[in-house]
Amino acid sequence: MENFNYSIPTKVYFGKGQIKKLATVIKEYGNKVLIAYGGGSIKKIGLYNEMIKILDDNSVTYVELSGIEPNPRIETVRKGIEICRENNVEVVLAVGGGSTIDCAKVIAAGVKYEGDAWDLVTNPEKINEVLPIVTILTLSATGSEMDRHAVISDMSINQKIGTGHENMKPKVSILDPEYTYSVPKNQTAAGTADIMSHIFETYFNHTKGVDIQDSTAEGLLRACIKYGKIAIENPKDYDARANLMWASSWAINGLISYGTSSPWVVHPMEHELSAFYDITHGVGLAILTPYWMRYSLDEFTVYKFAQYGVNVWGIDKGLDEFEIANKAIEKTAEFFKDLGIPGTLGEVGIEEDKLEIMAKKAMNPYFKYAFKPLEEKDVLNIFKAAF
Ligand code: NZQ
Ligand code: ZN
Repeated sequence: MENFNYSIPTKVYFGKGQIKKLATVIKEYGNKVLIAYGGGSIKKIGLYNEMIKILDDNSVTYVELSGIEPNPRIETVRKGIEICRENNVEVVLAVGGGSTIDCAKVIAAGVKYEGDAWDLVTNPEKINEVLPIVTILTLSATGSEMDRHAVISDMSINQKIGTGHENMKPKVSILDPEYTYSVPKNQTAAGTADIMSHIFETYFNHTKGVDIQDSTAEGLLRACIKYGKIAIENPKDYDARANLMWASSWAINGLISYGTSSPWVVHPMEHELSAFYDITHGVGLAILTPYWMRYSLDEFTVYKFAQYGVNVWGIDKGLDEFEIANKAIEKTAEFFKDLGIPGTLGEVGIEEDKLEIMAKKAMNPYFKYAFKPLEEKDVLNIFKAAF
């Protein structure tokens, strides 16, 4: 296990009715709030009214930024920063999924920054003072409710870039699984795939002696496999929604990655798909993952795929390692198919003539340290196989 500095400062209020704490939580940081949210799902489920009543009853004042788009845009971040400056906002309250939370994070980081907010996306080291961020999560997927990252797009230049800073970790997140009952089947499937991908990105590494991280990751994967299906079949199954919600946070909050080292590869590849085609993040990941796994399977990596097959899919450990690994990869692909996610890039509208440019842009110098080291030609081969 490698050295690490543990820091997960987000306070989590988990479970039914935890929104009651909202006013007390916010007042710890200020009295003037920016409420940031998306295209209206929070109004449909009654969460907006519930939240406004609590703020009004407790004399918390607020301004709003609505319409944050999936794959949030830099233009919306700039708009949010202006609203905060004009109204002397003290706390940013993000209510929604990862897109809303990510947008809110960069708004919170941009208010005190004198330059353009896009600088903070391309140069995370410029992030310094960040307004306190509180979140109410409504979609289990990204883990943004408990991590340091934010992913912002500038579609005019086909750029989707992840940034991050310790100060962007939310101070508090209210995680009530009931708010995810209304998440449609396709988003539940995409969210489950996203959570699993975050776990895969960390789990497939060569660091020795990381039994705690490995077994925790395997348990989280088993929970996603079990409860992803249940949540799709029965959207109001509380335990399914609760397990997915907590898995969303754990997958990326550091607990399974501290002490391990491996650069992420499937995410940078998927971000190019979204940057060019604005597709749903989890869908892109679910398509690419089995192809990336097949491409990465060789004599040096087979041991970990076999471990994954035995401990996550319950494949007989007496079989040959490659047989277990191949079965595990097939089971992964079948699982995503069963969730109703398309299996190829062509099915989601991606054009073959864009694969080369997307592979070039996805390429990252850290890929040479990946679980299976990748060059640009390998990324292109994975895209081609997935097409
Ligand atoms: O906009 P509204 O009306 O709220 O609708 C949203 C949106 O259309 C809807 N939704 C959310 N909660 C709902 C609901 N619909 C019904 N009931 C509810 N309770 O779902 C749609 C998708 O929402 P979005 O926030 O875009 O989804 P997600 O949470 O998957 O976030 C995706 C974004 O996060 C980035 C992705 O790249 C993408 O831009 N990521 C952020 C990460 C991070 N901060 O650490 C890591 C991830 O790997 C990822 O890259
Ligand atoms: Zn992701």
